[in-house]
Amino acid sequence: MHAIDIQALVQPARVHRRVYTDPAIFDLEMERIFGRAWLYLGHESQVRQRGDFFATLLGRERVIVTRHSDGSIRAFHNRCPHRGAMVCSERRGNTPRFVCPYHAWTFGTDGRLVGVPHRRGYEAGFKERMESLGLEPIARIDSYRGFLFGSLTDEGPSLADYLGDDVRMAFDNFVDRAPDGDLDIAEGKLVQVFNANWKLQIENSIDLVHPPILHYNAVEVSKEFLGASGPDEPVPTAVDIFRSNGLPFEEWDEVRQYALANGHCYMKGFLQKSDGEQLTIEDEARFGSDDQMPFEGQLDYKRALVERHGAARAEEILAFDRHNTIVYPNLFINPRLQQVRVLQPTAADRTEQHCYVFALRGAPAAALHTAVAFLTASNSPASIVTTDDHEIFERIQAGLESGEREWLDLTRGVDRDVVTATGREAAGTSELAMRNQHDAWKTYMMEAA
Ligand code: FES
Repeated sequence: MHAIDIQALVQPARVHRRVYTDPAIFDLEMERIFGRAWLYLGHESQVRQRGDFFATLLGRERVIVTRHSDGSIRAFHNRCPHRGAMVCSERRGNTPRFVCPYHAWTFGTDGRLVGVPHRRGYEAGFKERMESLGLEPIARIDSYRGFLFGSLTDEGPSLADYLGDDVRMAFDNFVDRAPDGDLDIAEGKLVQVFNANWKLQIENSIDLVHPPILHYNAVEVSKEFLGASGPDEPVPTAVDIFRSNGLPFEEWDEVRQYALANGHCYMKGFLQKSDGEQLTIEDEARFGSDDQMPFEGQLDYKRALVERHGAARAEEILAFDRHNTIVYPNLFINPRLQQVRVLQPTAADRTEQHCYVFALRGAPAAALHTAVAFLTASNSPASIVTTDDHEIFERIQAGLESGEREWLDLTRGVDRDVVTATGREAAGTSELAMRNQHDAWKTYMMEAA
């Protein structure tokens, strides 16, 4: 393989097309980005009980996450130390031990090898050697407010430092929205696959010129729906967000975006308000009208939040006005929509998107139903929004293979960034977040392996 000149592929406000198409670069990304960053593993509610486990991917590595009998959460490579078979083929469950299906080597939920059939077939000192033949732990596992992350290297910043203040704030807000102070992941998940590079999805998440253009159909359908509704009928969340895609560019500019360390970024919320008034939590007649997720029983929910946090803090929690927060390289979190999305790239031109919804402990069941309904409307094959996004990613992937032009342009807003205490800020229509992601990409990719 020819050496890849990484330095030359990402230049100020432009990116070479190979960054999206070259399988050798994809392999390097898996090693140098996904092999080094803190990556989302799952949520502690997936392993609430001792013996609970789930299987997932960390980059390209198959991993088992378990709750051991001492209460600690462990994560191991899903690979038998004997002859390499995948030990666990279930997606999740509860078990006191894992048994390899090939020769029945047996492991505790702490990964220790506790049983080997026909042990006398081994050498005299084998019993002692068993200590070193457990499941291989991943290099690091840590959690923030119940969200579990793993890293395939023991080098680099702590999870808290990696996330930084502004990203941690999104996780804090997610948990603080729960009247009982905890989250439960909902059953099931929604998975979509698109035949395009993973970076196109994270770039798209804060590309605020595309919504009124690419999502034109969603805007028009929402307007038709609203036109046919009575003035006092509640506006379904999906309709509210879909119609807001049609904001004029001047208003999208007012939806500020923020570029942070390590490639992270976030954008403010963009819901159109009915009359621009600042609503208060005591305003019972208007409850829910300033929320992205109105649901039956919301007033009781707000009262429960006030009881837990006090009125001022509860108001602050509900007013946390962000849409996407991107944890580089592959996690989206959106507390208001009670969802996280994880990208699992499987090839330079193929990506899986896994979407999860969370229940806020202490909130009415209707809150979860609304969140699930919104996820289905926005991030499923039946969606009139995500399907357009995925279609355009596949068109980009196909287009990048054609012609002689080598570069993609990311200059929009390049001369108007504002430096802040924690990064840079720009108008919504700037391509700042994308440039920031590519700066992080270059930093990871240029570090020696
Ligand atoms: Fe697992 Fe042999 S490969 S016991």
